[in-house]
Amino acid sequence: MGFGVVGQSFAKLLLSRSADLYSQHGVKPRIVACVDNRGSAVAPAGLDLQRLLEAKKAKGTVAAYEKIGAKFDPLQVIENVDAEVVLECTPTNLTTGEPGTSHVITAMRAGKHVISVNKGPLALAFPSLIELANYNGVMFRFSGTVGGGTPILEFAKRCLKGDRIIFFQGILNGTTNYILSRMEEGLTYAGAMEDAKQKGYAEANPSLDTDGYDAAAKLVIMANWIMGMKVTMKDVKRTGISNVTASDVKKAAERGNAIKLIAACDSKRLDVAPTEVAKKDPICVNGTLNAVTFSSEHSGQQTIIGRGAGGMETASAVLRDLIEIRDMIFEQ
Ligand code: HSE
Repeated sequence: MGFGVVGQSFAKLLLSRSADLYSQHGVKPRIVACVDNRGSAVAPAGLDLQRLLEAKKAKGTVAAYEKIGAKFDPLQVIENVDAEVVLECTPTNLTTGEPGTSHVITAMRAGKHVISVNKGPLALAFPSLIELANYNGVMFRFSGTVGGGTPILEFAKRCLKGDRIIFFQGILNGTTNYILSRMEEGLTYAGAMEDAKQKGYAEANPSLDTDGYDAAAKLVIMANWIMGMKVTMKDVKRTGISNVTASDVKKAAERGNAIKLIAACDSKRLDVAPTEVAKKDPICVNGTLNAVTFSSEHSGQQTIIGRGAGGMETASAVLRDLIEIRDMIFEQ
């Protein structure tokens, strides 16, 4: 569902990795349907991904895959096409959660496992979606929603299993980190924003980045999944970066610090706000990087750093989820 930057990158990744995916993981995925906002392509024997990418590039819609472009209702495709997994990668909407939430709910009710890179459904309805997945006996994975290809969720959930995470904080939005980093180099806020847009880091609606909504959505996902909290967007105290001035950035630098948009969670409070961070702190990363420090009861602090956005990076997270779902199906 959705064939934008991430969907197309995933198709390219499957094409380039098909041999080693099969030899190393025994996975040979068949994409039996693809839907974008203008139509769909359905082929029970499997779509030719190269031809699908070409159709999208030439005509702007996957409906051009067949000579007679079919305009299917996306929910009917999810319900009626025989498939094991639905990949939800339509654009994030943090107000309504749609169309992603309806896609996810319909897929789960139809008994299909779901991988979502769309943050909207999770940020607005995480607890009820987990319940729905459990009720319908399907797996729900969403690695790509936080950290792009950097396995932030898995690091906390699996590598720190057995310990208790008490607190975590970090930089979860690449666009604002890029803007703040460039301001430190002397670029104005507006100039840095323009630069971020051109590089393709920013959300389609850049207010999602600059007003802290994107970081808040990721914080909600982490709080639910890692800390076991039952929270949604409305539980986050959020301040964006639009009031950060060049003078604030300069004064912080004189103190050996940098201003970063920090998302923090201590199992009671969820906060997103511009915060002064010591430059020697490992979470003080620059450019579009993301970084999160987890503080655990016994194992102390660990920081994970990596690229937090990008089509191929996020597609690699989807593949990780798909391999995990496949492994779990075989274990059952
Ligand atoms: N706009 C987001 C960011 C994209 O800048 O981090 C990745 O979720």
